[in-house]
Amino acid sequence: MDKKPIIIGNWKMKLGIAESLELAKQLKHIPAKNVDVVVCPSFVSLSGVIDTLRHSSISVGAQDCFWESEGAFTGETSAAYLREIGASYVILGHSERRKYLGETDEMVHKKIKMALTAGLTPIVCVGETFEQRQEGSKDYVLIQQTVKALEGVPLGADQRVFIAYEPVWVIGSGQAIDPAEAAATHQVIRQSLFDIFPSSVVKSSFSIIYGGSVDANTVNDFTSLENTDGVLVGGASLTADSFRDIIQKA
Ligand code: PGA
Repeated sequence: MDKKPIIIGNWKMKLGIAESLELAKQLKHIPAKNVDVVVCPSFVSLSGVIDTLRHSSISVGAQDCFWESEGAFTGETSAAYLREIGASYVILGHSERRKYLGETDEMVHKKIKMALTAGLTPIVCVGETFEQRQEGSKDYVLIQQTVKALEGVPLGADQRVFIAYEPVWVIGSGQAIDPAEAAATHQVIRQSLFDIFPSSVVKSSFSIIYGGSVDANTVNDFTSLENTDGVLVGGASLTADSFRDIIQKA
């Protein structure tokens, strides 16, 4: 892989403000020379974590944004506000939001456009459920999610989109999938991008990463894959020791 792998920690709704600040403090001085590191705390911890990590090599992302820049949208958070507070990434379409909040591919599509407009780098999550896998529709589901989310999204020369392949049934299970299957699946996702973008754009603007029960023992199996540019880590990103191990092994 010619690019540095990216290691993204998704803290979900698992750390309060004090815990998030403490973790950020502990992560601040971790040497991360050959990797890009991003952490995604909850909205309420964003500003504190961004302040804490200001002079470090770690970037900060949000876990969602809204698809309009401002207006009467009670409870929602604008991508522009996230940029203003200093976030540089945003996770979009995570399977937990699709499941619990009814987030659709159409919503994800609009959010990606707004995130890019605001200057955030989107981390777009796609993945099949266990049932979809059992009935043999895994590739179809992934192609649909990818195409519906991204078709027609205007991309500037300096803009980048990360697609995180996260098999839904593997998230939080403690058992990542076989890296060979991740590699094959990333190929399916990449192929669907070639159907909707010029190949030069696919090559320059898109990165595909893997997520789902990655830990220090498995991170390297994924970052060493030729067509995989990094990992999205949930549970194992919640303590400084385990996230440090992941960064060092990657
Ligand atoms: P996990 O979560 O690493 O705990 O499986 C990954 C994710 O949901 O992004």
